[in-house]
Amino acid sequence: MGLPDMTSPSPQAREVRLSYTDASARTVYCTEVEVPFPEGSLIVSRTDLQGIITHANQAFVEMSGYQREALIGAPQYILRHPDMPKAAFKDLWDTVMRGEKWHGYVKNLRKDGSYYWVYASVVPNVRGGTITGYTSVRRKPSRVRVAEAAALYEQWIKQEVATS
Ligand SMILES: Cc1cc2nc3c(=O)[nH]c(=O)nc-3n(C[C@H](O)[C@H](O)[C@H](O)COP(=O)(O)O)c2cc1C
Repeated sequence: MGLPDMTSPSPQAREVRLSYTDASARTVYCTEVEVPFPEGSLIVSRTDLQGIITHANQAFVEMSGYQREALIGAPQYILRHPDMPKAAFKDLWDTVMRGEKWHGYVKNLRKDGSYYWVYASVVPNVRGGTITGYTSVRRKPSRVRVAEAAALYEQWIKQEVATS
């Protein structure tokens, strides 16, 4: 269970210890380098009921910086950025587990410590009335909305730190 620590991409990278909801933890490194969303692409992945990646399209693989083999079977939190509040993902999971669609802005961490913003739509995959997994389709986000989300998430993280 869990993922190995990241390796530091550069001496300037910020080191953060992240704990995940499956009780595992790892050290991640992030830089201030933003990678633009690939023009004209959709970044798509599917997960099982636990959020383990079962499918990733080529754009997902390329943007993550990981090899496809490292992604399939890994938890989707492999991309979790420390600037993302826990509350955003709680809302995502609460919504899709109810069988509803979730939309939101997500800052993702790449293997090399850089990041990219997406506008994600996450839907439950339903077969015969039962949820069998989830699909996320990510589009290029509006810069104005990214700035709003970044400010909001900063506030949420402050509250999470204050109440933890
Ligand atoms: C279909 C699907 C796609 C997801 N995509 C991402 C993603 O791109 N980045 C991310 O950080 N979390 C994503 N998540 C949420 C993760 O499962 C996880 O909740 C999040 O990374 C925070 O980790 P934690 O729940 O262990 O705290 C996705 C979840 C689902 C169901």
